[in-house]
Amino acid sequence: MCGIVGYTGGRAAAQVLLSGLKRLEYRGYDSSGIALISRKRLRCWKSAGKLQELENLLPENPAGHCGIGHTRWATHGKPSTENAHPHLDTEATTAIVHNGIIENAVMLREMLQARGVVLQSETDSEVLAHLIAAADGQTLQERVRQCLMQVRGAWGVVVSSTTEPDTLIAARNGSPVIIGIGDGEMFVASDASALVRYTRQVVHLDDGEVAVVRPDGFEVTALDAKPMTKTAITIEAGHEDYDRGGYKHFMRKEIDEQPEAVARTLSGRLDERFNTAHLGGLNLSARELLDIRRIKILGCGSAYYAGISGAGMIETLARIPASAEPAAEFRYRNPVIESDTLYIVVSQSGETFDTLAALREVRRKGGRVLGIVNAVGSTIAREVDGGVYMHAGPEISVASTKVYTCMNVVFALLALHLGRVRDMSPQHGRKMIEGLQALPELIEQALADDDHIASVARHYATCESAFFIGRAAAWPAALEGAQKLKEISYLHAEAYPSSELKHGPLALVDENMPTVAIVPDDDLLEKSLASIEEVAARSGPVIAVTNSDDQRVIKLASHVLQAPAAHFLLGPLLLGIPLQLFAYHCAIARGLDVDQPRNLAKSVTVE
Ligand code: G6P
Repeated sequence: MCGIVGYTGGRAAAQVLLSGLKRLEYRGYDSSGIALISRKRLRCWKSAGKLQELENLLPENPAGHCGIGHTRWATHGKPSTENAHPHLDTEATTAIVHNGIIENAVMLREMLQARGVVLQSETDSEVLAHLIAAADGQTLQERVRQCLMQVRGAWGVVVSSTTEPDTLIAARNGSPVIIGIGDGEMFVASDASALVRYTRQVVHLDDGEVAVVRPDGFEVTALDAKPMTKTAITIEAGHEDYDRGGYKHFMRKEIDEQPEAVARTLSGRLDERFNTAHLGGLNLSARELLDIRRIKILGCGSAYYAGISGAGMIETLARIPASAEPAAEFRYRNPVIESDTLYIVVSQSGETFDTLAALREVRRKGGRVLGIVNAVGSTIAREVDGGVYMHAGPEISVASTKVYTCMNVVFALLALHLGRVRDMSPQHGRKMIEGLQALPELIEQALADDDHIASVARHYATCESAFFIGRAAAWPAALEGAQKLKEISYLHAEAYPSSELKHGPLALVDENMPTVAIVPDDDLLEKSLASIEEVAARSGPVIAVTNSDDQRVIKLASHVLQAPAAHFLLGPLLLGIPLQLFAYHCAIARGLDVDQPRNLAKSVTVE
């Protein structure tokens, strides 16, 4: 999705903007641009394609200490230089960069054209530059406010103008904007990754707010000019967390970071005295937790799959009926919201539009919502009634790996906590704690099988399709495994609960259709073996992903990806590690761009 950077201060703005835009590349984009103010003149460079194309256009050391930059992911209008941001008004006094959608753009374009304005692009965003330049406010801030009163839709917008050459105006409505506080310099970005190199002190704008940003500080008002008080927070991650380090791909780095990420998720949360989990941010007393009759988990993509897995853990340990649903589907079916249901939204970025909209719908109807979120201070984190941060560290690769694992770990902690305020015995709680404490080391062991997994992946990388099957707790692992393979290797992969195989998909099984079978060492092992047999009997190659040492698995499968034994509830989570590596190595064998898969974005902030 689109990215925004703004700078005002003593440095050469072009360098700051370019380094910020590079940090935002991971979000996915198809064109880029920057605008600088120098000697009261606005200059703008834009290009379709990668950032390198933009850099090729720039003169050496372009002058200017204030400017804005953008990476665009096309929604209205094709990827092209004209449609790239920044957009300028006709006299080139005002430049804007915009994330989001202006819903009444057609009407506004016609209105501007009737006044004789010649629009340069097909975008909905360009109208903002013309409207701001034409507004009759005394200050740039007033003109931006006037413009925003006329538009409908979603925006994260930053404006620069020759009338106030060292000022940036930033505004938010539905699309994230963060102000970074420096010493005699200030930054604006749509994502903290763009500014951590310069500052870790940030302020998140809320919907309907407008900020005036100058080198010596900022002030925030509502759209009606009412002053707002804002509190700065410190970002946990350093800029090195946003680097590839020695790795070729962020995905690979993030797969390898899982032992430390999981240790951070667990840190300070295991209560060995009472054999429970300590989750400070839930904002729910033991009495309130006892009153919960049902749990509904909402998320998108991998977060939804982690939700299915979480629902299973909660039902098993706490015996509370729990289920997961894709956030957008939930919202659109006009759900019944119950006061004794606890709603949980799950999101890495904390900005996914569909998840945020579902959260708002539940709260509007009086429901109580907890968040399981990675990005500290994100919109979802700020709007929930309570929640748990994952502390997985920044995840840059589009394909989620360490965060999917940490989402599962948070659910395990929550299930333990809910179980211990209900019927779960201290002994049972103790076993779960030991299982969780062992996880970082077990993940390390699972990662050590990399070479073997790579050779198996190379063997199957030329296939056209694959099934992924798993039973009960292994079913979400199958969904996530298939998703990883689809996302980065573009292989057709479909996940089924093992029991469903014989109700249709089995018709496709032959020697050219491999099946990845997730076989945890749990009570259902015999049943899982029966499913593998069904496939093997039809000459279908089976890749068994297992932490069981049962010889029958080894005999029946064409290839085995082995993970270490674990607490029965954590087995499927651990089996996710070989599945990540399998997808990664398939994509590498197929020569694909692992970190920026086609058509996908890391965080989907539009509907
Ligand atoms: C996008 C990403 C997925 C991710 C989903 C939810 O579709 O490509 O990898 O699982 O959004 O993102 P969130 O930030 O809410 O976890």
